[in-house]
This record gives sequence, C-alpha cells and structure tokens, in this order.
Amino acid sequence: MTSDSQRMPTRRAVMQAAGGAAFGALLPWSSHSTGDASLEFRLRAEPARVPLVGAPHPDTDVWCYSGTVPGPEIRARQNDRLRILVENRLSEETTVHWHGVRLPNAMDGVPHLTQKPIAPGESFTYEFDLPDAGTFWYHPHQRSFEQVGRGLYGALIVEEHTPIRVDRDVTWVLGDWRLQPNAGISPDFGNFMDMAMSGRIGNTVTINGRLPDRFHVKAGERLRLRLINAANARIFGLEFSGHRPRIVALDGQPVEPHEPDSNRVVLGPAMRIDLIIDMTGRPGARFSVVDGFYRSLEYNLVNIVYSNDAPLRTRPLDKEIKPSANPLPEPDLETAIRHEVKFGGGMMGGMGSGGMGGSGMMGGMMGGGMSGQMHAGIWTVNGVSASGHIMEPMLTMQRNRSYVLALHNDTAWYHPIHLHGHSFRVISRNGRPTPRREWQDTVLIPPRERAEIAFVADNPGDWMIHCHILEHQESGMMGVFRVT
Ligand code: C2O
Ligand code: CU
Repeated sequence: MTSDSQRMPTRRAVMQAAGGAAFGALLPWSSHSTGDASLEFRLRAEPARVPLVGAPHPDTDVWCYSGTVPGPEIRARQNDRLRILVENRLSEETTVHWHGVRLPNAMDGVPHLTQKPIAPGESFTYEFDLPDAGTFWYHPHQRSFEQVGRGLYGALIVEEHTPIRVDRDVTWVLGDWRLQPNAGISPDFGNFMDMAMSGRIGNTVTINGRLPDRFHVKAGERLRLRLINAANARIFGLEFSGHRPRIVALDGQPVEPHEPDSNRVVLGPAMRIDLIIDMTGRPGARFSVVDGFYRSLEYNLVNIVYSNDAPLRTRPLDKEIKPSANPLPEPDLETAIRHEVKFGGGMMGGMGSGGMGGSGMMGGMMGGGMSGQMHAGIWTVNGVSASGHIMEPMLTMQRNRSYVLALHNDTAWYHPIHLHGHSFRVISRNGRPTPRREWQDTVLIPPRERAEIAFVADNPGDWMIHCHILEHQESGMMGVFRVT
C-alpha cells in the first residue's frame, strides 16, 4: 500500500490528514484560502497477482488499482478537494465512479453519459470537492460486472472536521469472489443464470482483500468500523456475537445511532454502514462474526480475538457517537413532485421466496439463448431495459425542487437501488414511515416490496439510477434521470 511508485512528482507539504493515512500516495498539492486542502492521488487500473486466499494456495490474478485489492484507501477531510489521476493499464476501457460523493456531473465516471471512457494506455484526471464527510468508495462504471468482480474497487474515507471519539477507526472492504480450486477467478462473468437471478454470488469472501481469520482487539476499546460492501451481488447480514454494535451512519450519512434489527447488520451491494462497537469482552476472549443473510448458507466471516492486555477502560466511553451532520438539502414533502419507478423482470422465484431455482420468465425477456453474452432485456425500469449508458432520461427534474420517488420492486429478487449525484431520505417502506428517515444513496428493496425516497434535485446533469447488483445493471436494470 505504500509503494513509492504511487507518489506523484509534486511538491510536498504537511500531510493534512495524519493518523490513519497508511497510503503513500497522499500528497497535498496546494492549499485553499479557506484552509481546506487539495489532495492529489494517482491510481493505476492494472492487472496484478495478489494473495487473496493465502498459503498454501497460489496467488490470484486480479484487476485492481495500483497493485492492491482493495485499491489504496483514499483518506481526506470534509471540504477537501481531490485530484485523482487515473491511468488505464488494462486492455479494455474503464472509468472511475466515486460512489456516493455529491460531485459535478462531469466527474461522475459514467462512460459516454458523463465522459469518454478511458482507453487502454490513456489517463483521466478527476477533480472535485468533498461536501460530505463519511464512508464512500470508488469503482469502474464500465463493464463493472467484470471489472469490479475482478477486484477494481477501493475505499474513499472523508473524515469529519470534528470526528467522533474512538480508539480506532477501521475500514472493512468486503469482497466476494468466485474462485476455482487453483484460486484463479472463474471467468464465467455475465452468464445467463447470474444475470437473471441473484447476480454473481461467489464462494470466497474477503476483508480488505484477504481471506480473514482473526481480527485483533483490546478489551475496553471503542471502534468505529466502516463496512463497505464491494461485492457484485452478495448481500451481507453480519452478526457480531457477544457485542452490541450501533449503526451511526448509512452510506456515509449520519443516522440516529441505533442497534440493528435482530442484531444483524444488513448491507446490500454498494452500501456502507459505520458501526460503533465497544469491545466489552474480557482479555483473551474470542467471538465470531457470522454472515447469516442467506438462510442455510451462513458462514463464519472472521473471529474477534481479544489480546491478553488489561482493559483500556472498565466502562464504555461516555461520548457522543453520532457523527456531525452533512449539508444535505432537506426535501419539502408538501410540495414534492411524485413519480413511480417500477423495477421488473428476472426469473421467477428468488432467494427471499423459495430458493435459488425457479423456472418461467417474467415479462421483459426479449429473445436470446441460455448461454453467451445475452445481456440486455432481462430486467427493466418502468418497462424499459437498458442496453448501455446512453439513453433518453426516464425522468426530468427541475433543479432545486423536491421529489418523492416510489420505488417498486416488482420482482422475486432483492435489488439495491442506487441514485447518482444525490443522497435521499428513505421516508417509507411498504407504506409505513421509516422511524429514522435515513439518508442513503443505495436502498435495498426486498422482493415485492416498495420504498419511497425523497430528495432535492439540486445537482444538474444526467444521472444514473440503477440496481447495484452489477449483473442486473448490465442486463437492463438501469435508467437515467435528468436534473435541469
Ligand atoms: Cu456504485 Cu452507478 O454505481
Ligand atoms: Cu437488482
């Protein structure tokens, strides 16, 4: 993570965000009069070999940023300006999308819609401010079902000016891989079954690019654990045995601190959750973190292992745990304009309603065989199946007006629906108001359910709305909304 080759030939200054910046490419390059820093990074999208599984298994050939999976963690502070030079050393086009960051449209990294894709051998510089503190991430938006699935993703952490008081701030980027016995990535990207059903769910889950074994903690310490689901399709439902994590932020945005329902932290693809966990176990104790999202497929993700050191403190810190608010525009529900958005298609039957199998097709199928690159036409948004990023906007919104979108999942599968350029409040689920009206940028909607979201359309441009199960996105569950 600290290779010198990542360093930019640029003038050095005092590292603004000391502490936690384990990343050698962080070099401020100028300073604004406001005192907020400009940070310069360089990312290379490239093939590499990494020890995903670890000995005695061979290394795995991946595509990744700057030689590591996940890519370098980019850490900045709220209101900093980022300048990131992306070099494409892959043999195909790519782009980088800064997931969840409310940035100008031209920096959003959507091929053809907001920029020309970066050709092999070429580079592109992204430059934007960071209006919100929180946990974000970056990944390609070009053929992302394969590019992300091969390892192209990384964390983007924006620290608050006054962070909540914790002993350690830890990021877990959760990855999901479909590996063959030789630890190589199974090349069956984009196969029809993955496209039409639950997406590409793998057989190997990694934390920060390694098959995890143990996570070391000290009795009495308070952790801020930033979870990022970078998987193509896997939904996580993490249970921290012996601990009572509290959720303090969703998709980067602060939320009223609360314990998760049924003690399970549910994270759809692309979602982030910040937890505060007090390590209340005894020195030397051991606990497991289990992912129990898919019934009968639960597995032990990692073990929490306490050191034998004396506890850091005897009772948990008595400090505020809600991060400071971000400057999000508050939607006016009285005057909001309403639209219905219906997600359809896919095979019948789903994880949530009767197993992986199922037969029969729903509407939206438009020919094609059971094999090969049959991408478009499986999934729809308001009856239309996207076949690329260039399309007529399905909705045109007036800048600075409030909107309520009723998102209907008319399918037998889960869909994490993501909006670009905006964060939204989830105001109701299945007609019932949500108790915390949480801000999100990706809302996980179970089969046959609906969620209402509200936001101010304050960011001009053409933006994607799509399912973040990347196989669903690729096979049609994607649309454009325009803010003018
Ligand atoms: Cu994280 Cu449109 O993507
Ligand atoms: Cu989906």
